[in-house]
Amino acid sequence: MSTKIIIAIDGHSSTGKSTVAKQLAKHLGYTYVDTGAMYRSVTWYAIQHEIISANELDVELLIKSLPKITLRFKLNTETGYADAHINGENVEKEIRSLKVSGWVSKVAAISEVRKKLVEQQQQMGKEKALVMDGRDIGTVVFPDAELKIFMTASPEERANRRFLEMIANGEQVSYDEVLQNVKERDYIDTTRQDSPLIKAEDAIVIDNSTMSKETQFKKLVALAENLIN
Ligand code: DC
Repeated sequence: MSTKIIIAIDGHSSTGKSTVAKQLAKHLGYTYVDTGAMYRSVTWYAIQHEIISANELDVELLIKSLPKITLRFKLNTETGYADAHINGENVEKEIRSLKVSGWVSKVAAISEVRKKLVEQQQQMGKEKALVMDGRDIGTVVFPDAELKIFMTASPEERANRRFLEMIANGEQVSYDEVLQNVKERDYIDTTRQDSPLIKAEDAIVIDNSTMSKETQFKKLVALAENLIN
């Protein structure tokens, strides 16, 4: 019998964490959880309910509204992956918009939001056999995770990846706008007071600026299988 483990994948935005985490989970027969989608879903809710208006986020109102927000992941039978649902509505596509990307770091910096989502994430790890990606998985959510990965790449390479993804999704954006968003999010994510993005001491760093997806995937599979078998 193989051992069930928790795999925590943290790192900067647009480093391809989700893609490789999903692949790895599928390969191992593990559950995959995208915690960025959870922060994005709360942000989407705030935009829909005018808690975020033109240029302002009403932090107090968002904190008060938290009990009204129910977040679930439900399997999408077409893609084979779980989509984020908020109060029963599938928001998987909406949460990837530039508007949500522009606000999400500010929402993720609110301690009350983090507390609610971290509790939910820890519940999901009760059975182990989990691949979870985010910013604080190896440091805060599962400090005892058996395998911790910290992914990074240059801001320009990451902006280029996200730009191509957004264009493919039909969004009207410029590369410069996306690069600015990547840099802004790095700054907010690494300097916020509550659970800033930092590498866990025992995390293995993967800089994939020039690494092929196959090489990266094989490396992760080897690391995981070494612990499982
Ligand atoms: O991975 P992503 O780009 O979808 O994440 C969206 C934002 O959410 C990002 O700016 C950082 C924040 N986040 C976080 O603070 N903690 C997590 N565990 C996951 C994401």
